[in-house]
Formats: sequence, C-alpha cells, structure tokens
Amino acid sequence: MPASGQNPDIVNISPVLRATGAYPFVKLEQARRRLAADGVELVDFGKGDPMEATDAAIRQALAGALEERMGYPLAEGLPELREAIAGWCARRFGVDLDPDKEIVPTYGSKEAIFLLAQVLVDRDSDKRLVLTTEPGYPVPERGAAFAGADVAQLPLLETNAFLPDLDAVDVDTWERTAIVWINYPNNPTGAVAPLDFLARLSRLSREHDFLVAADEAYTELWFEDPPHSALEVRSEGNVAVFNTLSKRSSMTGYRSGFVAADEEIVAALKQFRPSVGTAPQEFVQRASIVAWNDEDHVERTRSIYRRKRDVLLPVLRKKGIRVAGSVATMYLWLEVPGAESSEEFAAGLLEHGLIVSPGSFFGTAGEGYWRLALVPSEDECRRAAAIFDEIL
Ligand SMILES: Cc1ncc(COP(=O)(O)O)c(C=O)c1O
Repeated sequence: MPASGQNPDIVNISPVLRATGAYPFVKLEQARRRLAADGVELVDFGKGDPMEATDAAIRQALAGALEERMGYPLAEGLPELREAIAGWCARRFGVDLDPDKEIVPTYGSKEAIFLLAQVLVDRDSDKRLVLTTEPGYPVPERGAAFAGADVAQLPLLETNAFLPDLDAVDVDTWERTAIVWINYPNNPTGAVAPLDFLARLSRLSREHDFLVAADEAYTELWFEDPPHSALEVRSEGNVAVFNTLSKRSSMTGYRSGFVAADEEIVAALKQFRPSVGTAPQEFVQRASIVAWNDEDHVERTRSIYRRKRDVLLPVLRKKGIRVAGSVATMYLWLEVPGAESSEEFAAGLLEHGLIVSPGSFFGTAGEGYWRLALVPSEDECRRAAAIFDEIL
C-alpha cells in the first residue's frame, strides 16, 4: 500500500480517480481540527455551508411529511414540487416552464452537475469537449472527466469582469464542444453575468450545437439587483439551468435542487436518473414545496448576509484590502496584499484563528486572491473584523 494509505495497488482504481487530487477543502478541515484540538478559538470563513437556521415552516413540513413507511421516491419527483419550481421560475425570472416536461427535481444540485456529462457526452465522438471556468467549483470538470469527456478550462479574469472571454475560443473548439459550464453569480468571485453575455453564449450554443449548462446555486444571494438566469435566454439557444435550495433557503443538509431544460434534455435525465437513485426523499420534496413557495425567509437570509458584509467590508477596505467581484453570493473575493502567495497569506491568517480559502484552491486564475465565505455568525464576523483591524 502506498505511503498515503490511499489507492492500494492491489485494487483496480479508475485512472480518473487516481489523477484526481484531494478535494482542496479537505486541507482546510484538517487545519481546522488541528487548531481546534490545540484550543485555538476559530472563526471559519472556509467552506460555503450556511450556518443559518432553516425556516421553521420548512422544517415542520418535512417532519409532517414523515410517514410510517416511505417508499422509493420517483426520479421524476412529485408533481406538486415540479409545479412549485415552475411557479418560482415564473415569478422570479418571468419564464414559462412545463412542470411535466421541462423540470426534474435533483438531490441538491451537485450530483446533477457531476452527472450531466454522463448523460450528454459521447466519449467516442469528436464532439466530446466540456468547457468549464476557473477559478471555480470543481464538480463540472470532475464529472466530465469521469464521463470520458475532454475538459478545457476558460479563465475568469478580473480584467474581463470574471466572465470567460468568448472571443478567445476558436470555431474549431466550439465545434468540438458538447457542454459549456457557467456559474453566475459566481463561486468564488461573486461576479454576476449580464444578460447580454448570457444571450450571446446561448446564441453560440445554437450556432455550434452545444449545451449551456448554467449552475445558478447563488442567484438568490444578492445585495443590489436580483441576478439574471440563463433561463431568460433559453429561446435563443440550448440551455439547462441547475438551481438548489442549499444556499437560498439554508438547506444544504436536505439535498434538494432542480434542473430546468428543454424537453429532450429532461427526458434524457429522467431516463438516466433511476439507474443512479438520486431522487430526493419524499419528505424532503414536501419541505421543498414550502421553501420554493416562500420568499420572506429568503429576504431575511439576504439581510443576514448583508449585515455580515457590512461588518467586514469597511475594515477590509480601511486596511487597504482590495475587494474584487463580490457583487452577489455569500462570498467576498479579495486581493492578497503584498507579495505572498494566497496559500501563504491564508496560512498566516490561520495562526490568528481565521480560516479562509486561498484563491489557488479554485484554480490557477484564483492565485492572488482569497475567499471569505460569510457563514460565521454576525458576532463572529465582528470578532474577525477586530482581528483583521489588528493584524493586517
Ligand atoms: C457553485 C456551486 N454550485 C453548486 C453547488 C452545490 O450545491 P448543492 O449540491 O448543495 O445544491 C455549490 C455548493 O457549494 C456551489 O458552490
């Protein structure tokens, strides 16, 4: 067995898995445990797992839906849930979706993001390229690699407002592309995509016959104007949207999201998903109906994140930390001051009990930045602000 204790040679492990490094946040978790064991009082701005309470009405709906026997949930989901999702999409983005044919509930959005390439990519065809963006959430790229797709990453640079440069992609590349992943509002940069960018990408998808897969996990965490959805430009091209209750309704532990797409894509997902078995449990679906039908708790959630931003941003600015992106989402994307690498800078903060993510965790183009996830309580943010004031 190798020294790491992982991937023993006697087992035939997928070469893709072998080539996949540890999920970078594992490193943060290890550091957190080490410091906590040493009695260091930590403020954890690392992982984007909301700490806010899930609204009581949603929790009650889940408890009330628990029956003596719960059978297998169907991959197509409860019709009432699909209707609630369609209703929310109509109210929020002004789009008309057929709940029976254009929506499928998912077990959170991560599994659906990971699995999309399995459903859509023919690994033996010339059109097997999946484009993702970096710095970014690693799941689309990993899912594509496991599906035998080729993967190329487009950098998100501050000079281009953290949007991929669509002009930098040549026609030959577009022609080989099966899926283009975008994620706006973006993790980790907090940037949003203007409607004309979404429309242009959508038109390109029609011209070159690929799918725009839009990961929209953060559309509801905004502070100025509500961000757009790629659903708004679906009539101009081939678009699939992935959304989730995880961040909107602080429901990461429930695992509830959806894919909205054209009929053919949704039919393919409905054909594929029973083999995987990732339909949300029926009691989670019942709670999700309540969540999608209510905006009050979402407004309250936004105001909590707004208050935490208001505690931290003035101190960071006062200390000369440049704020990049950070228009929406629960993240602040900040420039590393001085000449240190982002990992060195984060390691320095750790010694003061502050856990943050180095930008390099999210990809090469993330170097030079660090990410604060606004998950600690407002009081903890105040304590961290005092520490920043002292040490930066
Ligand atoms: C960009 C992005 N997309 C998708 C997800 C997945 O969220 P979930 O599987 O909880 O819906 C996350 C979670 O952190 C994320 O950051």
